[in-house]
Formats: sequence, structure tokens, C-alpha cells
Amino acid sequence: MGKFKRNLITTALPYANGPVHIGHLAGVYVPADIYVRYLRQKGEEVVFIGGSDEHGVPITIKAQKEGVTPQDIVDRYHKIIKDSFKEFGISFDIYSRTSSKTHHELSSAFFKKLYDDHKFIEKTTMQFYDEKAGQFLADRYIIGKCPICGNEHAYGDQCEACGTSLNATDLINPVSAITGNTPELRETKHWYLPLDQYEDWLKQWILEEHKEWKPNVYGQCKSWLDNGLQPRAVTRDLDWGVPVPIDEAKGKVLYVWFDAPIGYISATKDLTPEWEKYWKDPETRMIHFIGKDNIVFHCIIFPAMLKAEGSYILPDNVPANEFLNLEGDKISTSRNWAVWLHEYLRDFEGKQDVLRYVLTANAPETKDNDFTWKDFQARNNNELVAIYGNFINRTLVLTHKYFNGIVPQRGELTDYDKEVLAEIPAIIERVEKQLDNFHFRDALKECMNLARLGNKYLADTEPWKVIKTDEARVRTILNICLQIAADLSTLTEPFIPFSAAKLRGFLNIEPVAWAAMGDNVIPAGHTINEAGLLFEKIDDAQIQKQIDRLLETKKANEIANAKVAPAKANITFDDFAKMDIRAGRIIAAEKVAKTKKLLKLTIDTGIDTRTVVSGIAEYYSPEDIIGQQVSILVNLEPKQLKGIESQGMILMAENADGSLAFVRPDKDVKPGAEIK
Ligand code: 2FM
Ligand code: ZN
Repeated sequence: MGKFKRNLITTALPYANGPVHIGHLAGVYVPADIYVRYLRQKGEEVVFIGGSDEHGVPITIKAQKEGVTPQDIVDRYHKIIKDSFKEFGISFDIYSRTSSKTHHELSSAFFKKLYDDHKFIEKTTMQFYDEKAGQFLADRYIIGKCPICGNEHAYGDQCEACGTSLNATDLINPVSAITGNTPELRETKHWYLPLDQYEDWLKQWILEEHKEWKPNVYGQCKSWLDNGLQPRAVTRDLDWGVPVPIDEAKGKVLYVWFDAPIGYISATKDLTPEWEKYWKDPETRMIHFIGKDNIVFHCIIFPAMLKAEGSYILPDNVPANEFLNLEGDKISTSRNWAVWLHEYLRDFEGKQDVLRYVLTANAPETKDNDFTWKDFQARNNNELVAIYGNFINRTLVLTHKYFNGIVPQRGELTDYDKEVLAEIPAIIERVEKQLDNFHFRDALKECMNLARLGNKYLADTEPWKVIKTDEARVRTILNICLQIAADLSTLTEPFIPFSAAKLRGFLNIEPVAWAAMGDNVIPAGHTINEAGLLFEKIDDAQIQKQIDRLLETKKANEIANAKVAPAKANITFDDFAKMDIRAGRIIAAEKVAKTKKLLKLTIDTGIDTRTVVSGIAEYYSPEDIIGQQVSILVNLEPKQLKGIESQGMILMAENADGSLAFVRPDKDVKPGAEIK
């Protein structure tokens, strides 16, 4: 802790335009929660801040898509996000929102102070305007090709593919996200934070004084600073957001990236009347947990705002993570390519810790990583169940079996016992060191090493054999195992708090402070509770269900994105009239033997009853379609198919994935009705 007295831990405020997914969790909320729980266990003063980012174009675009108000959108998703974080054990002291009164007042006052202190410059520039929509196209309202990486779907403020922060006028071939039109340029006045004036100060503060920041964070900051900073507009021509509190800015709102980080301050204010202690006392250590796309905002723009305001502290560290992919593909809200937290909680009830464990063991700390359901299953079954759960289970079962659930007294220790006991503080120290440096993956690995140590100790000492000859020795062995079990419940609490609490329940102990861990946590004579299973195996069927859902999503996306075949050359009406298409009814259907795709259909065409061989067997089963209406081309020349004469053709619509659907009258009509 050193020069600091207290901790202020913030997590990026997710946009309330959709639920949170595993990418958010792995990047921000799980590591932040681990860190906060660790600090609390160490007895440090800490506040843990979260909340919804409810302004900006992501919200209004979603509202427009659904034909509802932005307020409807943020109310819906704020609740889903807040509830799911709670159920997942993200232990915020407050989960606030930027549409709150406190936030509107505070962010408005923040702007006003900077304005009154002449910290902004005013500029009238040409900006994109969509005449049809009747509005300026701020940020995500404009889409075009990224001038840096060539991504065709870069936004007016940022390219999500390469992470570059952009100005709308940088985009190649910009179009309006509302109407798809090419926008025109119109004059408009805005207020800019002259970041260039903070460049030297930022270089000193980050590049000289914060060399300890993670390489990915430091590197991004350095590249920004080396490229030179430009003034950045902090107001927008939009009608959803915090109104700019000056008369000549009527109808304009604060840029969402101006108001959102101030949301951390408003949330603290909503939490406690002592909020200024956290924000204005240099003895507070502020840490921002964010994803890599937020680095520039938290390391450059927000600090410049805080510096300009003058009375606030700056972050001590900004441990940003890289991105998590899903089954080899970038997570995407719009493509529904995600594992949504609220759905996970529904599908894997009571298994919060499995996801917390997997996301930490596989965290994208230094590079992008991939989440796969097979890995999720393997880590649960082979690590949580087979290593941690197995050790706990054997320890508890043997204690009940040999000593009626009473912690046995230790006898004289062998050299091996001493060696094992000495490993406990060594592991704890390594976990601490990793956590202090935001290396959560390695910290978790060390925790599992304690469980591994316990397993090895049991395997080496074999109490189930020794009990036959030397009960006193078994007392010592199980006493040591129980100490390890109790330490595991403390050591793993930040990572998998639900299981840690469950384990304390089995051991019948209260939470143990971090500093109290060691080789004598549970006294001899203490009675433990009935043992249960700490973790359960996850079977193939559960995993397959998730994989199937993703496959369906993939298929739906392929269909949605498939290119439509270009139109064929024109024909005359006479050409068309040559085709005799009738409404018909299927009166019998059966599979054609030794084929996969063919059904033999008997059709009442109104004219006659005839046989048609149709390649629909993969999409329809015979018993389901008898009685259904179809459209049939009756004057197609008959053709032999697998030895059956097919007398006509059933009209089908073919999807991009090759799947087929009947084309038929939408009301029942008499067979023989002409289709024209
Ligand atoms: O990238 C995002 O999802 C933003 N809503 C994060 C905001 S972080 C903070 F500034 F509020
Ligand atoms: Zn790009």
C-alpha cells in the first residue's frame, strides 16, 4: 500500500444497449472483482465502483432500431446488467447509472467549471449531416472504411478492428448509419479539450512516472503521445445525453466519453457523502479496470480532464486487458456471437465459479485469447473437480470416517510434513505477488498449486493404508490436510467466492483474514460439517447444447449476410405464360429407397393425380407434409429419377445455406387453381 491509505477501484461502465457477455467479464469485471476481494481480505479500505453508461450513440441507435425511446433501452439493460453482475458475485459497492440526477448535475458542473476557467477552445467546423434524417451524424452514426486498417465498418469516432480513435472526416466513403445515404457537410460549433496542451505533462506523467503500467497499456499511450495529440471535441449535436450547460449550446449534449468517466465520480457520490475523500485526497489509490479499446480514454483524455479541473486525483494504474474471442471468432453483440452472462446464469445455475475460474485461467491479459466450450468443460472436469474438489472431498470424507468429523490432534512432524507446511506461506506469497501485479492467471495457477500440493501429500502419505497400523500418524496427516483445505478457502475466495463459502460451510469455519492464513488455522477438536461436493462434473450434453446454439447463430448470420444472386435477363410475358403452375395438394409421400435427398410425392393437381420426385427429404419428413398445399409446375417434361417417372416440379425457395421451403398459396385454395 505504501503511500496510499485507501483504494478506489473503478470498472468501465458498460453501455446499457445490450446485456454483458464473457468478453466484458474476462476483460474487466472478473479481474477487478478478484482484486477488490483480495484487498478487502487484506483489511484495506476499498470502494468498488460500477455502473451503466447510458448515453451516446450506441444507445440511440439501438432505440431507433427497436422503435422505442432511449430511456426504454437503458432501463431494460441497466436492470439486466445490474442483476446479472450481482448474481455472478461481482461485489460492487455501488452499481450506478449515468442517467441519474447526481450524474447529470455533476458532469454538467464539471463541464461548466472547465468552460468558466477557459480550458476549452471553441471551433466551428464542417461536420457530416444526414439531410433525410435531419440530424448531424456524430460518432457511430457514421460508418466508413478505416484509413488505418481498411475495416469497412469503422465508426466516426473509433475503429473497433484496430482500436484507432478516429474523427468522422477521416473515414473513407462515409455513409449514414441511419439512412445509408452519403452525408453532406454542414457547419457547426463545438467545444474542444486542447489535448495538445497536455502533451508534455502526459509524457512526463505516463512515460516517465508510470513505467510500471502493463506493456500493452504503456505501449498504446506511448504511440498516442509520439504521434502528437490534437484538440478533441467534447460536445455533440445529439438530443440524448447531458445538455451542454451554456446558452449558446442549446440542443447540444456532452460527448459520451466526456460524461461517462465522470460517472465514476457520480457513482462514488451516490455511494457516500464522503466521496471527496476518495477523489480528492492524494492518499487514495485509484485504479481503472478496462478493456483495451478504452485505453486512450482512461489514460489520456480523462486524466487531461481531471488535470484541467484541478482538484481531482489521477489513476495510479490502468490494468487494461486484451480481448477474448469466442470459438475462434471475435465476440460481437450485433452478430449475437457471445456467451451472454444472464443466459449463462440461467443455463448453468449455481455454477458462477466455473465461469469465473475459466475466464481467469484463460484471461486475455497479455494477448487476445479464445474461449471454447470444450476448454470450459475440460477446466471444470480436470482442474476444479479432479484437483481441487478431489482433494477437499478426500480430506473431508477421511476425517469423518476415521475421526467422526473432529479435527484430529497433530503429533510429531516428519521432515516431509515440515516441507509441505513450509510450502503454504511460499505459495501465499507468490499469489500475493502475482495479484499485486495484476497477473490474475498466474495467481490462480498458484492457488491451484496449493490444491495440487494437498493431493500429492495425500497420495504420498496414503492415510487409508496407514490407518491399519498407525492411527496417530493419520491424525497428523489429516490435521495438515485440513489446514491446507482451510487455507484454500481463503486463498481462492477472490477468484471463486461461492465455492470458497461452500468450503467454509463444510469446514464449519468463519472467513479467515488473509494475514491469518498458515499452518494452524483450524484447531484440533473442532467439528466439521457433513461433506458435500465442492464441484460437479459437466457432461457432454450440456456442452453440446451451447455449441449447437452457436452453430445456429453462425448459420443465421451466414444467411443474413449471404449475397443475393443478381437478377436474370428480362423475359416476355409470353415466356412466363408458357409455364403452367398450379396449386396442388400432397396426398401421399414416401422416401425414395437408397437416397438421402429424395421424396416420392403423390400430388392432387386438380387436373389429375401424379407422381413427383422432389429433393426435399433433408428438410421435410413424409408424415409431416401429407395434406399440405404446394405449387407445382405441371407442364415440365417428365423425367426418370431413380427409376421413377417424375411428372412436374414442386416450387421451393432456397435459403443461402441450401435449405428449402415450400412456396405455396397463403390460404387454402382448390387444387388446380392457376398460379400466375
Ligand atoms: O466501451 C464502453 O463500453 C464504454 N461504455 C466504457 C465507458 S468507461 C467509462 F468511462 F465510463
Ligand atoms: Zn481500423
